[in-house]
Amino acid sequence: MMKAVEVLGTKANPEVTLNPAVPKPSPKNGEILIKVHAAGLTGDEITWWELWEHPIRIPGHDISGQVAALGPEYKGDLKVGDDVFSMIHGWRGLGQAEYAIVESAEVARKPQSLSHAQASALPIPLLTAWEAVFERAQVQRGWRVLVTGASGAVGVIVVQMASRLAGAEVVALASEQHHDSLRRLGASRVVDYNTPNWEDTIRGVDVVIDTVGSPVLGKTWKTVKSNGHIITVGQPPAAWEYGKGRPEELDDFPNVKWLFFVVTPKAETLDKVARLVDDGTIQPIAVEVFPLEKVVQAHKYASIRNRRGKVVIEFVPEKK
Ligand SMILES: NC(=O)c1ccc[n+]([C@@H]2O[C@H](COP(=O)([O-])OP(=O)(O)OC[C@H]3O[C@@H](n4cnc5c(N)ncnc54)[C@H](OP(=O)(O)O)[C@@H]3O)[C@@H](O)[C@H]2O)c1
Repeated sequence: MMKAVEVLGTKANPEVTLNPAVPKPSPKNGEILIKVHAAGLTGDEITWWELWEHPIRIPGHDISGQVAALGPEYKGDLKVGDDVFSMIHGWRGLGQAEYAIVESAEVARKPQSLSHAQASALPIPLLTAWEAVFERAQVQRGWRVLVTGASGAVGVIVVQMASRLAGAEVVALASEQHHDSLRRLGASRVVDYNTPNWEDTIRGVDVVIDTVGSPVLGKTWKTVKSNGHIITVGQPPAAWEYGKGRPEELDDFPNVKWLFFVVTPKAETLDKVARLVDDGTIQPIAVEVFPLEKVVQAHKYASIRNRRGKVVIEFVPEKK
């Protein structure tokens, strides 16, 4: 048996608990069993619909830990004892537990320069940012890119990838306290979302990468070029997300392309970006670490705005 975070209650009224005795999984086929050292939390993850489809609701997609066992048909190059980090697919989860199952497409060697706590904050932000910047938007050198929620976990990575790797001119939307750090991460311009009508001060954007959702997303239509592109992963979703129709803004901006996507785990991307973290090209995300006994407080803190960093639950305390 093992300890795991479990969400009881209802979707409207979720109740986070620590279950002291959940069956420990064992790897089948090509699966990999991870001894979880730390798990990163996304603020609103206990409201994601996938969690509520499971009979035992153990949240968790972002983990860092050690390979504990390999399934009988595993053919990759990981060995028991390797330090790895992983994004477990959106519809599986079950990562906030002492042991978790991952598939080989979801896991890579963790950045060596980071602790497990730091590494566990990264998989979803890295994969989401990479998919948005390079695969969906295909940002080109010299493009102007507006990043909303730029101080958030996904936002700080998008800012770095778009500016440092793609060579774009990045406009970062965030509250003033984050402006200096965003400039250091590569933003050419910072705009405070608390400034009334901020959207009227930004023009000529090739691509918006939105991590906030409504109402910020709706305001970004004014900022893009007439043939620009709006890409969003934010919550709460606009009415048109999840394939539910057409944005009404198209009446005024008919040639703007628009897209909502849900990130998919990719071992190859995790591996590539882990090396960029180790060589200092991509700075890690600040983390706020909670011990296992404080899972309730951890989830509560993860859901508030203006946090100090991404919340991480530590299952194995890091040796100092
Ligand atoms: N679709 C996907 O595949 C996917 C993947 C990853 C994440 N997501 C979603 O993307 C969102 C961001 O994730 P995250 O981990 O980066 O979250 P996060 O670390 O909590 O960051 C959220 C950011 O949004 C800003 N923000 C929140 N409300 C705002 C508002 N009304 N106006 C302006 N800025 C606002 C916050 O700024 P302050 O700190 O100043 O409040 C913060 O910078 C979440 O909803 C998450 O579920 C989706």
